[in-house]
Amino acid sequence: MRYFKKDFLRDFSGAFGDTGTFIPLALGMIIICGLSPTSVFLPAGVLYVIAGLYYKIPMPVQPLKAVAAISIVNGIKPEIISTSAYIMAALMAIFLIFDFSKYLEKIFSKPLVRGIQFGLGILLIKSGIELVFKKEIITGVLLPDVKFSGFSLGPNPLSFFFPAFDNLLTAFVILIIPQIPLTLGNSIVATSDLAKDYFGDRAKKVNHNSLAKTIGFGNFFAGMLSGMPLCHGCGGLTAHYRFGARTGRANLIIGFTFIIVALFFARMSSYFLRGIPLYVFGIALVFIGIFHSLLARDLNKGKDIFIVMIMGLITLFYKNFTLALFSGLALREALNYKVYWEKLNNFKVSIFNRKNKSEAFKYNGSHKEERVETTRHLFDRYNRAITYLRISLTENCNLKCLYCMPKQDSVKALKKDFLTNSEIYRMAKIAVSLGIEKIRLTGGEPLLREGIIELIEKISSIDNLKDLSLSTNGTLLEKYADSLRKAGLKRINISLDTLDEKKFEIITRGKKLGSVLNGIRKAKLAGLKPIKINVVVLKGINDDELENFIKFGKEYDLIVRFIEYMPIVLNEKWKKYFISREEIIQRISSFLDFRAYPYENSGDPSRYFYLESGGEAGIISPVSHGFCHNCNRLRLTADGFLRSCLTHDIEIDVKTPLRENAGDETISELFKKAVLLKPEKGIYNLREETIRRNMSQIGG
Ligand code: GTP
Ligand code: 5AD
Ligand code: SF4
Repeated sequence: MRYFKKDFLRDFSGAFGDTGTFIPLALGMIIICGLSPTSVFLPAGVLYVIAGLYYKIPMPVQPLKAVAAISIVNGIKPEIISTSAYIMAALMAIFLIFDFSKYLEKIFSKPLVRGIQFGLGILLIKSGIELVFKKEIITGVLLPDVKFSGFSLGPNPLSFFFPAFDNLLTAFVILIIPQIPLTLGNSIVATSDLAKDYFGDRAKKVNHNSLAKTIGFGNFFAGMLSGMPLCHGCGGLTAHYRFGARTGRANLIIGFTFIIVALFFARMSSYFLRGIPLYVFGIALVFIGIFHSLLARDLNKGKDIFIVMIMGLITLFYKNFTLALFSGLALREALNYKVYWEKLNNFKVSIFNRKNKSEAFKYNGSHKEERVETTRHLFDRYNRAITYLRISLTENCNLKCLYCMPKQDSVKALKKDFLTNSEIYRMAKIAVSLGIEKIRLTGGEPLLREGIIELIEKISSIDNLKDLSLSTNGTLLEKYADSLRKAGLKRINISLDTLDEKKFEIITRGKKLGSVLNGIRKAKLAGLKPIKINVVVLKGINDDELENFIKFGKEYDLIVRFIEYMPIVLNEKWKKYFISREEIIQRISSFLDFRAYPYENSGDPSRYFYLESGGEAGIISPVSHGFCHNCNRLRLTADGFLRSCLTHDIEIDVKTPLRENAGDETISELFKKAVLLKPEKGIYNLREETIRRNMSQIGG
């Protein structure tokens, strides 16, 4: 009962979380544009209820922002606004019929969406300021004269609205074109992405097509009732979530509130709205404007910010979002000239210089190899470019983390026949010649490897290698940090699952927390940067330390990444300790600033979030949100096998040919074979069988 109460209260407060955006824009549509309160609140309420029942998670309903902003700023007539609702419904139908979902992310890239938001933010701020300084004091001066007819309950008169043909073009050009990137980019792409982050599996009904369906339905209904166009949106989702909403019940609460307002209080409200001081409304618009302009803060590339600025200026001076959008598109393509230049060069090369190119392999439907020509990388059968090699230097480790090594494994060094340093260097060189750009040295504990400094010196000087890094448990860093940096290593990832001495003993079956903390300090002093801290989150063991880790990261300028425990072997231990990304997010939500983090495809498996206090934290979630579709990696085991995937035992022996003096050509062929053997996906929670190696033997 207490739980019910607590959950209900959270949903109740979360239900009203997005009214800060909804109400001022809705009032603008009523006060300035002349829509009736019933036609504004009734469709919104109904859509809230339907979305709540269908998605079963909080799903915001908002006025279409660009449409609302342009309408309010220009005092657009109600019939044009309602016509735009019909057009939006028709566009959603076209979107579904022609299955446009797959093109979305490419066309409406983030800078364009942010550019429109920035422009409309500036315009809202400007109109808000104008309202604050208007001579008239109350909104009544802007409204048609309404006589006070007593405290009568009931809706405003409703009639079926059918759009006039003449208004279609005007509504489309003035209101809809600027709205398209926002609806597609923000209401559909960003909302479905964020819903999965917040609610994981519970958001399974949220996808591009289902969002297009509910938006389409809402707009058709709004059009019929002479209402304003509606959408969902990721800003609104964050607002509901932040105020506590966790289930579709929040939608029912706000939805029925709107319906009650529309059906019972609309007539009275038309009169009372006239008394609102204009400056109150003006200030609300300024706030929404600032909020929208600041959404662009999550861009960090100079050219993206430039695009946003130009789009903002064009919107400000010409009040024309369509012009701003097309200018943004043109600018984006112009700034991308390097990519086109490269494509043109590749094209020239493919015509004039076929013999000089390297070869990649591509899947041709059977398991036979088909050589495909490319200028740089190896591609696997699923068209993924393989650019990252993880080299394990040893299977030995001076710790025995409980999720990584079976208890019975001896901590004593295994006397296995590992590849020699010169064999590893040769493999690294051949890999780079085949398009590998990033090498990570792993273990066991790689710092136990003899001659590691000389090896790093050699590998770091390989031409065309863009990134060399190391994953360590940190216990030996105090000793090695300086020489690692001098040898050419730039950055480092450190595994550290607890900041508590006692727990450290339990997790690692060792006693060296102090040495890891000293190691981190030394690595910082040596100038290794960035330093990433990998925290495997284990239920009941370290899941109460997530906040401490965030503070720790902030204090020492470290990037903390929380990792889902992977069931390399499905066992009771995994079932007992596993915690999903969704739960991790919930536990640290008070630290997170849920602005969208720019997508990056650097091959880092982590999904990053901004922190309220500045900086960022990452979550690596191979189990709940596999990243196999982006996998760019290959592994070389310490005993000389190329391993195609962390979770499959597909391996190719390279030690034997290396020791039989095979030439570079032969070794290259083996690399290509390993790439070709890469499976489409790893196996995690479905695993029944046991793989040959444990994590410490593969190197993570
Ligand atoms: P960056 O280059 O800094 O992004 O390093 P990284 O994240 O690639 O390497 P790191 O050794 O720090 O590994 C972080 C976590 O990701 C560990 O838990 C690894 O086991 C896991 N990981 C690394 N590669 C793979 C992979 O190919 N598949 C899966 N499922 N997990 C991986
Ligand atoms: N699940 C997730 N991460 C793991 N690591 C080792 N075993 C597992 C597992 N079962 C991590 C280590 C280290 C990285 C190389 O792999 O903590 O940070
Ligand atoms: Fe050693 Fe790393 Fe495995 Fe822990 S996770 S036992 S530190 S290899």
